[in-house]
Amino acid sequence: MKIQDEINEFRKNFNISLKDYIDKNIGNDQLDKAIKYSLTIGGKRIRPFIVKKISDLLKLSSKECIALSLSVELIHTYTLIHDDLPAMDNDDLRRGKPSTHIKFTEANAILAGNSIFSLAISILIKEISPKKNHLLIKIINLLCDISGINGLAKGQSLDIEMQNKKITLNKLLKINELKTSKLFEFCVLSPFILKNSSTTLINEAKLFATNLGLVFQITDDFLDIKNNQGAPYLYKLNNKSPKSICSQLIDECTTNSKFFGKNNSFFNEFLYYILDRKT
Ligand code: IPE
Ligand code: IPE
Ligand code: MG
Ligand code: MG
Ligand code: MG
Repeated sequence: MKIQDEINEFRKNFNISLKDYIDKNIGNDQLDKAIKYSLTIGGKRIRPFIVKKISDLLKLSSKECIALSLSVELIHTYTLIHDDLPAMDNDDLRRGKPSTHIKFTEANAILAGNSIFSLAISILIKEISPKKNHLLIKIINLLCDISGINGLAKGQSLDIEMQNKKITLNKLLKINELKTSKLFEFCVLSPFILKNSSTTLINEAKLFATNLGLVFQITDDFLDIKNNQGAPYLYKLNNKSPKSICSQLIDECTTNSKFFGKNNSFFNEFLYYILDRKT
């Protein structure tokens, strides 16, 4: 099956699980409505798709896979709500629709982001079997690590600090690693952790996630050229085209990898799919 068809198929099923979760857990006050709106106005569902691909190969149960995939998409949604706020990117539109703060006030957008983040943690605690508590703690520890001062929040803070300032390509890639790759790290690593995988596999997974995030954000900056003229300019410096930076990143994490290499050629194709995407 072509990757695009596979993602489309996955998205339908994922949205059904998400709706089921929303119906059972989220109410009808303004804050609840802001949460539901943010979770259901669209989205490619790329992160939960990665969780699913890896979980299938590792033979995780479908209950565990759904818990991890809902959790990552919730965290992603929280980052987007806050990313669009006037104090951050000040975007009135998200996925072609009014951003959460436009539709539900800034206060509710901030609170919806905070609430979605805590829901993401509670899904993991409720859905992963108590027999795996020792692994669940590792997953939650990773989540704390990737979302705060060693990850997402720091990346977003640096991103804003650096807007309209001169920075080097290396610094830009470092910011992308924090603001974008870190969440991919959670998507890719959490199934391996739940399977109690070896350190070798975890390290391969980490490199794959880092490079996937970089390819993803570089592509996003080009698709989003209107808002992001500074970034594409930087990628084009250093006599390297963004495509060649990305191919190098793709080679680095797939060529010699036991899991992400030729044994599962899907991952190499998937990275090229991300690089060549149009949305
Ligand atoms: C947007 O992510 C945020 C970035 C890290 C660039 P996506 O492009 O995955 O957003 P949706 O969920 O598909 O709208
Ligand atoms: C997204 O960066 C990174 C996070 C949301 C953490 P962008 O600001 O480029 O994302 P878009 O373009 O608004 O989706
Ligand atoms: Mg941003
Ligand atoms: Mg933005
Ligand atoms: Mg962008």
